[in-house]
Amino acid sequence: MARAAGPVLRATALLTVMAALAVHPAGAARAADAERGGALYEARCGACHSLDAHRVGPMHRGVFGRRAGSAPGYDYSPALKGAGMVWDAASLDAWLKNPEALVPGQRMGYSVPVASDRDDLVAFLRRSSTP
Ligand code: HEC
Repeated sequence: MARAAGPVLRATALLTVMAALAVHPAGAARAADAERGGALYEARCGACHSLDAHRVGPMHRGVFGRRAGSAPGYDYSPALKGAGMVWDAASLDAWLKNPEALVPGQRMGYSVPVASDRDDLVAFLRRSSTP
């Protein structure tokens, strides 16, 4: 019995590490960088968004912790308005990765395929939402 337990435990530990790496491929290697996220935001989101005014897309200050589709005065798609979720690190990451997969029928035609870019953008949005 005791003799067999060792390899099984080792295999279990290895699987746990592998699962953690699969879920957080970037998080394991680096910390999110809000400064870099701000530069990415200017470059990639600035055509449609700003922190303090609605443009093609809604304003972003306060988005972290806000209900999706709820910034006053912006005309959201019915899909996003009715999504019924609150923006946090996980939902923002999923949105930026593939908005249409998260909220079918939404209107943002843009995505961010690289996980470390998303981490930095989300860190920036979080920082910009904290008074
Ligand atoms: C081509 C224009 C465009 C670009 C580029 C764009 N967005 Fe958007 N975004 C939109 C539109 C339009 C909506 C509203 C979607 C809806 O109503 O379904 C939106 C909505 C959002 C929302 C939901 C906000 C809320 O109040 O619920 C977030 C978060 C968001 N965008 C983040 C980003 C980030 C971060 C980037 C840059 C990586 C980005 N977007 C780039 C057009 C854009």
